[in-house]
Amino acid sequence: MKAVSRFTLGGLSSRKFVCAILLVGMISCRTAAESKPDSGTTAAVPDAQTDLSSNGGADADGAGDHAMLTDAPLIDGGSGQDASTDAAEFGIAARAAKQTCNPPAAQIDQAPVAKLSATGCVDPADPKKPAPSLIPYDVISPLWSDGADKQRFMAIPDGAKIHVKNCTLEPDTCRPSFMGGTTIDEGHWILPVGTVLVKNFLFANKLIETRLFVRYPDMWAGYSYEWNDQQTDADIVDENGLTKDIVNGSGGAQSWYFPSRNDCLECHNETVGNSLGPDTRQFDRSFNYPSGVMGNQIATLEHIGLFDAAVAHLTPLVDYRLQGSSGPSAEDKTRSYLHSNCGSCHRPDGNYSAIDLRFGVPLQMMKICNIDPNKGDQGVTGSKRLFPGDPTKSVMLLRMQAADKKSGRMPQLATSVLDATGIRLVSDWITSITSCPP
Ligand code: HEC
Ligand code: HEC
Repeated sequence: MKAVSRFTLGGLSSRKFVCAILLVGMISCRTAAESKPDSGTTAAVPDAQTDLSSNGGADADGAGDHAMLTDAPLIDGGSGQDASTDAAEFGIAARAAKQTCNPPAAQIDQAPVAKLSATGCVDPADPKKPAPSLIPYDVISPLWSDGADKQRFMAIPDGAKIHVKNCTLEPDTCRPSFMGGTTIDEGHWILPVGTVLVKNFLFANKLIETRLFVRYPDMWAGYSYEWNDQQTDADIVDENGLTKDIVNGSGGAQSWYFPSRNDCLECHNETVGNSLGPDTRQFDRSFNYPSGVMGNQIATLEHIGLFDAAVAHLTPLVDYRLQGSSGPSAEDKTRSYLHSNCGSCHRPDGNYSAIDLRFGVPLQMMKICNIDPNKGDQGVTGSKRLFPGDPTKSVMLLRMQAADKKSGRMPQLATSVLDATGIRLVSDWITSITSCPP
């Protein structure tokens, strides 16, 4: 099965020159061929999506923890990012007739529906299955969640459209916020009021948690549901969150934290635009839809009429879990990892804006290279935020390796297991930086 890229449809060459406006006033250009490996040579490579189709399409966020995935060389084909000039194939034929998945409370200050089976977001007869009006999707560069596999869905209200932030068409929205612009990034998807985003967390096919992230008229709210052992339903978690012991994908005991409702908004904050995955750079990949069609996600959503305008191309993030030398560069993988795992807080106007860890921001503007930390040296005298060539003296890595929040762990919430893949990428990246750009 061939994956189809949204932006090579209509016979356009995959080498066309694409420019991504990543920051206000800063344009980064590269050829698409640089970031999109040719699919022609990778037909025999198992695809992560296909491998996992037996567990309902969960992705491989827990790649390090998942024997089936680590055994296979995850190169080009695994990312769903391969380009093809084949005719378009759409994973979904038409928009669902009726949206059943609505916000779990009529108003943000009311108690949410107590049982997941009663939300309309799952099949009441078998709550493990999504309701038919949900659209499944996957992101290119996922959040590390302690080795859990994930499934993601979106529920868009009947008739409503998604608007994509576009600095070319609407330069006003891209001014600094004090001049009336918005802080959210180019390519972010502004989802309509009433949208419900759904994320399942699983280990070895067993559902542990379902998170709903919901757009109310004035703000967003997050809810967590805890699955029962029989896998028959999930109960709303108290607003303060919950910690419990679970069995992970390798059969070991692991502590699992159901984030509090305030925790959700630390990462899903207003500065980023609240929702995190729905974004042109995260969605430009193919997906193995339940229809059996492997189609590009943006092309499929355009086909069913979900956007209010054509979606402009941006340089996609890359799948940082890919191994092998023929895939994306180590630099792009590291920067994609930092963008999705750290960049929601470390950005201008973010929770800690002294550093900027977003994709596409030049190294000298990230404010890390050879710069003293403000928040402690992590016990290493002379350490820098990023010490060129020396990961052991770089607090950004030391914090990814720290045991817990008390000892400075980053991110400081919703994770307790270290991310071996991320640590290796960031460590190798720091080693490769021999001097700081002026
Ligand atoms: C440590 C930061 C962090 C915390 C805390 C967090 N999330 Fe997320 N969440 C993310 C990131 C990053 C993504 C996008 C990448 C992905 O899906 O892997 C995401 C994706 C999601 C999605 C899919 C839609 C979207 O916006 O991308 C849902 C639903 C979601 N989170 C719900 C919640 C809820 C509910 C809570 C609180 C109970 C929560 N999250 C807490 C970082 C966080
Ligand atoms: C939920 C928001 C959030 C996320 C996600 C997050 N951080 Fe942080 N980070 C903070 C805050 C707030 C501080 C300042 C308070 C502190 O030191 O703990 C901080 C501090 C830091 C510092 C110290 C800078 C200094 O000047 O001393 C570094 C380095 C850092 N983070 C790196 C990272 C990395 C790398 C990631 C991703 C792997 C990450 N952070 C993810 C919120 C976040």
